[in-house]
Amino acid sequence: MTDLSEHRPFSESQAAPWWTRAVVYQVYPRSFADSDGDGIGDLNGIRSKLDYLAELGVDVVWLSPVYPSPQHDNGYDIRDYEDIDPVFGTLDDFDALLAEAHDRGIRIVMDLVVNHTSDEHEWFRESRSSTDSPKRDWYWWRKPREDGSAPNGWTSAFSGPAWTLDETTGEYYLHLFAKQQPDLNWENPEVRHAVYAMMRRWLDRGVDGFRMDVINLIAKRAELIDGPERGAGDGFVMGPQIHEYLREMHREVFDGREGAYLTVGEMPGVSIDDAALFTDPTQQEVDMVFQFEHVSLDQGAHKFDPIPLDLVALKTSLARWQVGLAETGWNSLYLNNHDQPRLVSRFGNDTDYRYESATLWALVLHLHRGTPYVYQGEEIGMTNVRFESIEHYRDIESLNHYREAVEEFDQAPSSVLGAVHAMGRDNARTPMQWTAGEQAGFTTGTPWIAVNPNYPEINAEADRASGTSVFAFYQRLIELRHTNDTVALGDFELLEPSHPTLYAFTRSSSSERLLIVANVSDDPFTGDLPLDVSTAELLLGNYPVDADLPLRPWEARLYRL
Ligand code: NOJ
Repeated sequence: MTDLSEHRPFSESQAAPWWTRAVVYQVYPRSFADSDGDGIGDLNGIRSKLDYLAELGVDVVWLSPVYPSPQHDNGYDIRDYEDIDPVFGTLDDFDALLAEAHDRGIRIVMDLVVNHTSDEHEWFRESRSSTDSPKRDWYWWRKPREDGSAPNGWTSAFSGPAWTLDETTGEYYLHLFAKQQPDLNWENPEVRHAVYAMMRRWLDRGVDGFRMDVINLIAKRAELIDGPERGAGDGFVMGPQIHEYLREMHREVFDGREGAYLTVGEMPGVSIDDAALFTDPTQQEVDMVFQFEHVSLDQGAHKFDPIPLDLVALKTSLARWQVGLAETGWNSLYLNNHDQPRLVSRFGNDTDYRYESATLWALVLHLHRGTPYVYQGEEIGMTNVRFESIEHYRDIESLNHYREAVEEFDQAPSSVLGAVHAMGRDNARTPMQWTAGEQAGFTTGTPWIAVNPNYPEINAEADRASGTSVFAFYQRLIELRHTNDTVALGDFELLEPSHPTLYAFTRSSSSERLLIVANVSDDPFTGDLPLDVSTAELLLGNYPVDADLPLRPWEARLYRL
């Protein structure tokens, strides 16, 4: 056991920022709780569930976007950064939510979506109006090539080209996502300062930080757009100015403020070395990043090409991130969010071992070093949904993929639907299952997307009343993060890295050593545990205590050695 507190910034209890001991809960407002019966969740719905969140024990709520939006991408296409969409409520409702959350010791972090706006944002309307517009250069406009085609061959994350020709001026604009989501030009200082001013106004209003949507895409490689090597693959990720922009943002937005803030940058394709730079506290960029390596391991050629999870690859990937950010920087920890399939269906067994596999993954994730994120419904073991036809799906990504795969690439509709069942984002977006009553207690109206038909069995009320409550297990994990310094800050070491079904690691500090063992399998684990536990104290497990038995299917245990 080594005490690294002398040379590591976050190992000494006093020096560690508050979010090293915090757990974040993500609310996807459309699908959380509907207070007015229009079938869409809203701010007053969230207010009505604050006691539930306080009982769970979370420190922070990250709100997916609630700003005015035409909702092509469920609010990730923002028309106005300074207001609330009427489907979610009003600014007064927002202020009330913020105050009531703060009363319960819960901070609110806003989604910051500034790689792109909606095409209905006034900035874009102005920009598209003429090539002389003072805001023309706020977005990426390019003339067609000589043959009339797009400036380069980049494709959008939601299928099809990343350029759309705009009739008004005969030029193309860039959109890395839907054509209704034009990319802002961060090379223009006016854009950057308009964004910073908007962020400052939200902080003045009392919010506690930002989750920054695809923030490593804001710095483009302009030379690839204009250069001879047109269409160069992923050239839009991590342009050379990215660190400069994030440092400038931090300075302009947070300097001189006293509050306890949290910033997390969503960064597809980020490497460990980059992440260490982004999260190095001396650099003042972001507190932590969302990386994607571990949630890409069950994807083949692309997202809708699911392949079986290789546990060895998953645990070695997460371990590399643990080690890579041990000296400098900080990890976020997540297996679920609004873009990912449900954890218990994806990496667990959502039929025979739903409770066991949900709690196994919870224990494994929450015992890593980093800030854990819980996505709504994860804490009651909600599962994927399998709608019978594509008509029931709502997500632009799944719908565009289905149309392209079936119509342009002639794939069999049933196999494309199968991929949407496995990987589609609507798995995470069906309404929160509160009760066994009508529409799972989510709304008194007709929900914008159907409720998962398993709600009579899987719902918060039933879970909390049960002897095997996933919610209660998350409560314990959250409490441990708050109270145990080794859980929050201890060193991580992966054991048995090449074992195909055993997930085992230790967390160590100068005062104790914890062992986590988890049997990621429908079969019992009959081998020897990697360390002697004969005198160890069992702190938490997801089966009735019988430490003499080998690990049962999906059993996970936390020992103090
Ligand atoms: C990442 C968000 O998480 C996702 O939901 C969204 O579609 C894209 N960024 C575009 O904003």
